[in-house]
Amino acid sequence: MKRVPVVEMIGINKWFPGVKANKNINFRVYPGEIHALLGENGAGKSTLMSILAGLYRPDSGTVKVKGQPLRLRSPRLALQAGIGMIHQHFRLVNNMTVAENVMLGAKGRVRIRTEEIEKRVRDLSEQFGLAVDPHAKVSHLSLGEQQRVEILKMLYRGCDTLILDEPTTVLTPQEVKDLFKTLRLMADQGKAVVLITHKLSEVMEIADYVTVLRRGEVVGSDHIHNLDEQTLTRMMVAREVIFPEFNRSHQLGPTVLAVSDLSVPNDRGRTAVRRANLELHEGEILAIAGVAGNGQRELVEALAGLRPVSAGSIRLQGKEISHLPIRERSEMGLTFIPEDRMGMGLVPNISVVENAMLRVYRYPENRRGLLLDYRTLEAYTYSLVDRYQIAVADIYHPVNYLSGGNLQKLLLGRELDLDPTVLVAAYPVRGLDVAATQAVYDLLLEQRQKGTAIMLVLEDLDDVFRIADRVAVMYNGEIKAVLNVSETDIDSIGALMLGVQ
Ligand SMILES: Nc1ncnc2c1ncn2[C@@H]1O[C@H](COP(=O)(O)OP(=O)(O)O)[C@@H](O)[C@H]1O
Ligand SMILES: [Mg+2]
Repeated sequence: MKRVPVVEMIGINKWFPGVKANKNINFRVYPGEIHALLGENGAGKSTLMSILAGLYRPDSGTVKVKGQPLRLRSPRLALQAGIGMIHQHFRLVNNMTVAENVMLGAKGRVRIRTEEIEKRVRDLSEQFGLAVDPHAKVSHLSLGEQQRVEILKMLYRGCDTLILDEPTTVLTPQEVKDLFKTLRLMADQGKAVVLITHKLSEVMEIADYVTVLRRGEVVGSDHIHNLDEQTLTRMMVAREVIFPEFNRSHQLGPTVLAVSDLSVPNDRGRTAVRRANLELHEGEILAIAGVAGNGQRELVEALAGLRPVSAGSIRLQGKEISHLPIRERSEMGLTFIPEDRMGMGLVPNISVVENAMLRVYRYPENRRGLLLDYRTLEAYTYSLVDRYQIAVADIYHPVNYLSGGNLQKLLLGRELDLDPTVLVAAYPVRGLDVAATQAVYDLLLEQRQKGTAIMLVLEDLDDVFRIADRVAVMYNGEIKAVLNVSETDIDSIGALMLGVQ
C-alpha cells in the first residue's frame, strides 16, 4: 500500500522585500516520523514552516494535507487541519495557569469544567512524558516547562503534525533529552514531528529523515541512515568546515581580572548575581554557561560598567574598577562585546567607516587639528575589512547593510585591533551561521594566543567544548563551579546548570 504523506508542500515560493526566502521547495512528511529541517541561519526554514502553520502565505505553490490540497490562510485553519507550530518565542499568558493556557482558544465555546481540563492535561502529560503541573502559573515555570505547555496546547487541539522551531536553544542538556523522548513518543504514536534546527548533533541523535535547506532551496532530502555528519555539513554550507583543535593549557597565566563577592541587581532591583568569585587569567578563554536568565548577562554588564554593582569588587590588574565609568575601564584595556551588536556595539544608519573609527578617532594620528583625517581613517577601515575578512560592498554604506556575521567581525575586529587586556563578550556567535561562527572563534583563539584574557557567555554547550579552557556555570545568580573543560563533560555541566549538584 502506498503511504500518504500527512503533509506535502509542492513548489513553494516565498518572497520578502529584497530576498527570496523559499525557492520552489518540495517538502514531505509522513506520519510516525521525526523529520529534521536542517539549515544555517537564514536558510528559509522558519519561513517554510510558517507557511505550513498558516502564518505566511506562499507566493506560489501547493500545500496538501493527507492528500487534499488546502489553503491554510491562518494558524487556526492550519490547526484544524492538524498542524501546529511551536515558535522560538513562546506565546503563553504568564498570569494564567498551565491548564488555562492549554484551554485558551481551543475549539468549542461550551464551558468545560476545570477538573476535566486538568484531567485531560494530566493524561496528555503522562502519555507523552511532559511533566508539568496543570495548576502552576506560567510565570513560575522554567523555559523548558513553558515549552512543554506549548506542546500540550498543540496535543490538546489534536495536532497530528507538530513543528518545533529550534526548540533546544532554551533548554538544558537534561531538558533536551526529555524533549527528545517526548518527540519519540509522539512519533511512535503516529504523529509527524518536524524539528527545525541548525545543529547537526541533534539531527544525528533524533531524526529519522532530513531535509536540508540552503539559501532558500532544498539541497537534499534523505533517510538519516544514508547520511553522515560530514555530508550534512557539506550540504548545509556547500564547503568543508574544519574545526581546528587547539591547545588547552592548564598552565594558567597571571590573573588579570579578579571578581570577589560580587553582587549585582537586575533591572527590577532584585539580586541577579550573588556573591560571585572568579579569576580570569592572561591567555585563557573562560566560558560562562547557564540557562538564559541565571545572571550571566548581569555579570558581564557589571564587568563592562553598564550596570552598577551592589557589593563586592572587580579588580583589573590589581586596580579596583567596579565604580569606574565604562570609558575609563575601556581605556584600561577592558573591552566588551555586547549581545546586542547593533545599538550597543555598532551605531546603525551610519557608515562602516564611521563605525570602524568610533574607538580610534580621538587619536592624534587620525586627526588634522580639530578635523578627522578621513584618508587615514579610510585606510584604517580598509585594513580592518581586509584583515578580518569583512564582506562589505562599500565602506560608506550604512553598517546595517552587513549580515550578522560581518557585523560581528567588524565589531570584534575594531576591538581586537586595540589588543585589549581583557575581552568580555556576551553570546558572541548568536545568530551567526557555521562559517561566521568559525571565523569569530578563529579570531578569539588568535587573540587568546596573544595573551588577552577572554570571557565569553555561551549558550551552546558544544561551543564550550570547542573553544573554552575553563567554564564557570551559573545557576540562580550563583557561580556553582569553575571547571577545566578538558576534565568535565556535558552532563556534569548540565547538572550544575539545573542546580542539582
Ligand atoms: N518577515 C520577514 N520579512 C523580511 N524578510 C524576512 C522575514 N522573515 C524572514 N526573512 C528573510 O528570509 C530569509 C529566510 O529567513 P528564515 O526563514 O527566518 O530562515 P531560518 O529560519 O532558516 O533561519 C532570511 O534572509 C530572512 O532575513
Ligand atoms: Mg529560523
